[in-house]
Amino acid sequence: MAQSAGRPAFPDGFTLHRFSILDSTNAEALRRLSAGTASPGDIFVADMQDAGRGRSGRTWNSPSGNLHCTAILRPHAGRPPAQLAFVAALGTLDALRDVAPSADFALKWPNDTLCSGRKVSGVLIEGSDTGYAVGIGINLVAAPPDEEVRFPAISLRDVGATVSPDEMTTALCIRLDRWHRVWGRDGFEPLRRAWLESAHRIGDTIAASTGKGTVEGRFVGLDPEGALIIDAEGGRSVVSAGDVFFPGDA
Ligand code: BTN
Repeated sequence: MAQSAGRPAFPDGFTLHRFSILDSTNAEALRRLSAGTASPGDIFVADMQDAGRGRSGRTWNSPSGNLHCTAILRPHAGRPPAQLAFVAALGTLDALRDVAPSADFALKWPNDTLCSGRKVSGVLIEGSDTGYAVGIGINLVAAPPDEEVRFPAISLRDVGATVSPDEMTTALCIRLDRWHRVWGRDGFEPLRRAWLESAHRIGDTIAASTGKGTVEGRFVGLDPEGALIIDAEGGRSVVSAGDVFFPGDA
């Protein structure tokens, strides 16, 4: 990796496409994938989005100054594409630690990053036959108020860190690339271990709301595929999709 004036250079293997405004960088990536005009390594960055998408059909606040980007990543042959969620989670976490080393970051399953216990970034992965659009939003300068979100949010500015979208994008691409290579070379286990080392409130009470209701119990860990293991009163539950909360944080 080249370096100039103390700043890491944009990594080889990524091609940056910048926009002042888009509906959604994920939507743009998927349009280009279906038109055959995007390929792995392309990354779409918009200064603002006017239809930013979050998980479970929610909207994602996308003001200028925050980072809104989507990278096209390919799953490695023989590895479940769902594990890209952990490449994205660990890439985002490490990139945040690079640009804001004094802040306190942790992971919330499966791929949110928390800062001081509040959500600072989210990931939305949308797939098509032709590739995967890994969308990442990071609150650099602004976070939505508590009454507008399911989980309280925060920005890097709120914790005294000044980070530009360009600086964040470069750090993110470097770290996504590293975790993507580890996954291809060594499989999922190193990602699972690294994720657990930075998990928010492991061992404490967790609640997961799934399509079938809410499971509450002790947060034990992740299974070999990355599903959440919760020891509840009625026995052990393994949750592979849902939103998680920490009743003890409230
Ligand atoms: C979540 O709900 O936590 C996921 C949020 C993902 C937001 C990012 S911003 C860039 C990309 N484009 C979108 O429309 N969504 C993702």
